[in-house]
Amino acid sequence: MKRKWWHDKTAYQIYPKSFLDTNGDGIGDLKGIISKLDYLKDLGIDIIWLSPVYQSPFVDQGYDISDYYKIAEEFGTMEEFDELLAETKKRGMYVLMDLVINHCSDKHEWFQRALKDPYGKYAGYFHFVKGKDGKEPSNYRSYFGGSAWEPVPGTDLYYLHMFAKEQPDLNWENPELRQEIYKMINWWLDKGLAGFRIDAIINIKKDLSFPSFEPDGPDGLASCVKMVEEVQGVGDYFEDIKKNTFEKYDAFTVAEVFNMKDDELAEFIGDDGHFSTMFDFSAHTLAQGESGWNNSRKPSLKEWRDTIFASQKRMQEVGFPANIIENHDEPRGASRFLPEYAQNEAGKKMLATTSVFLYGIPFIYQGQEIGMTNCRRNDISEYDDISTKDQYREALAAGCSREQALEYCYENSRDNARTPMQWSDKKGAGFTAGTPWLALNPNYTQINVEEQADRPDSVLTYYKKLLALKKSPEYKETFTYGRFVPDYENKDGIFAYHRISGKDTAKAGVHGTEAVDGEKDASQDILIAANYGTEPCTLKLAGRSGRVLLSNAGKEEKGTREITEAGSITLESCEAAVILQ
Ligand code: GLC
Ligand code: CA
Repeated sequence: MKRKWWHDKTAYQIYPKSFLDTNGDGIGDLKGIISKLDYLKDLGIDIIWLSPVYQSPFVDQGYDISDYYKIAEEFGTMEEFDELLAETKKRGMYVLMDLVINHCSDKHEWFQRALKDPYGKYAGYFHFVKGKDGKEPSNYRSYFGGSAWEPVPGTDLYYLHMFAKEQPDLNWENPELRQEIYKMINWWLDKGLAGFRIDAIINIKKDLSFPSFEPDGPDGLASCVKMVEEVQGVGDYFEDIKKNTFEKYDAFTVAEVFNMKDDELAEFIGDDGHFSTMFDFSAHTLAQGESGWNNSRKPSLKEWRDTIFASQKRMQEVGFPANIIENHDEPRGASRFLPEYAQNEAGKKMLATTSVFLYGIPFIYQGQEIGMTNCRRNDISEYDDISTKDQYREALAAGCSREQALEYCYENSRDNARTPMQWSDKKGAGFTAGTPWLALNPNYTQINVEEQADRPDSVLTYYKKLLALKKSPEYKETFTYGRFVPDYENKDGIFAYHRISGKDTAKAGVHGTEAVDGEKDASQDILIAANYGTEPCTLKLAGRSGRVLLSNAGKEEKGTREITEAGSITLESCEAAVILQ
């Protein structure tokens, strides 16, 4: 694998609307982000990904862009954006913007013009398609529910929207449209961005015959994802984008990809792949039901671990994945992946430990570093998110009680991750002096940055230690390029793996195999082990020597868990340790 500048970095996702409000309008802003750059630097962050900050009606919270060249006035000005870039540069940090190019907003000038002239040039930027027998061209259900087709007023045409009807899909078949998008991407890269997180990109290729599929729900529709899965050739678009934009700037790109065909991984993120990396969502899609939240399921601890392990093994043969616990579309990891008995500070540190050292680049989502959690609401009206409202309706239509439907929202809603950042226990959580656009999670009085900042055993302090260890000169090579090798897989509740660098990486030091004499020197073997179970567990280490580099037990700098003289370590429930072997 070719080495890249970003491989040893740690990234952090900012959801601007909920990060920090500096003018009291209840909405986070660019000034807020600028004022927290030192906080992020101190945490150990190198790369910042900003969820969309472009001009938008915010039907889908900025993922509906009405002008790609403007900053949303809610967030500030272009001058402030430039200042943000300059300030990050000063600190040796990098900025990624969110690139939303599968669709734009229905308020975008292109779409407005298309509506005015439904057979003209701008209609060709979208999918304006003639209906069939006075009905929609096909039976696609959009990702946010209901038909993916919306009538074009005054015509027998429909336009395609795979997301909300306010998010018309762009027509990538149209070379003019592609050129417009490339121009825009390069304009931003010229400003000095490090690259982009690329939104919903797998969707850009359409089967222009728009075939209908076997209905998969009581609404008689079929998920539009079927078309995405069947259509061939999306890779040609990706290559075209790369050649015309990213490649010229050596830009870093991290793609949001669901529904990739299994054998395409190398084409996507191999050495000459379409993208630098892509998010590994394997653990996140595990719980997904056939059609929605009302048939989602709870994977076992073992299933969850094994899924991550399988993905790691596959990824390391091909490229360099981007790992997350949560993001703005997912519930909080601490609420989702930790069993109830582990939903405490020890558990959150354990989850952080097993996640941060995985093979790949970690993306930490705002608030994760203090252990923010899901947020319970009493009524659907307290939710803002468009997909939450849809899933709630679906659950009721499927016969769920109101309580049950709200429970699904509590477990799955995208708003769980979108509640404002909890900076302090003061009114407004230090996020705003006004009324927050989305109600705070009431637990901000206990869980907040101010309380954790100087506390030696806080989740925040622990994250700093983890990230510092990850980039420490002695171990950086191993944590970045070391092979991922699972261990103790048959022990109940144990989540353990090695990162091994050096020559004999396939064997060195893994439990049950003895390192070959002499070769051990050439390699470094670091075991990351955690006990997600309820009972203490003793792990016999390979070889007797070993040193705990960090554990989440006790308040001491490196933790208090130790290796016995006989070469074993006992982890209590919710304990994790990083061990140099
Ligand atoms: C991506 C975004 C999500 C958005 C959707 C449509 O999945 O992460 O927030 O709703 O694309 O742009
Ligand atoms: Ca504001």
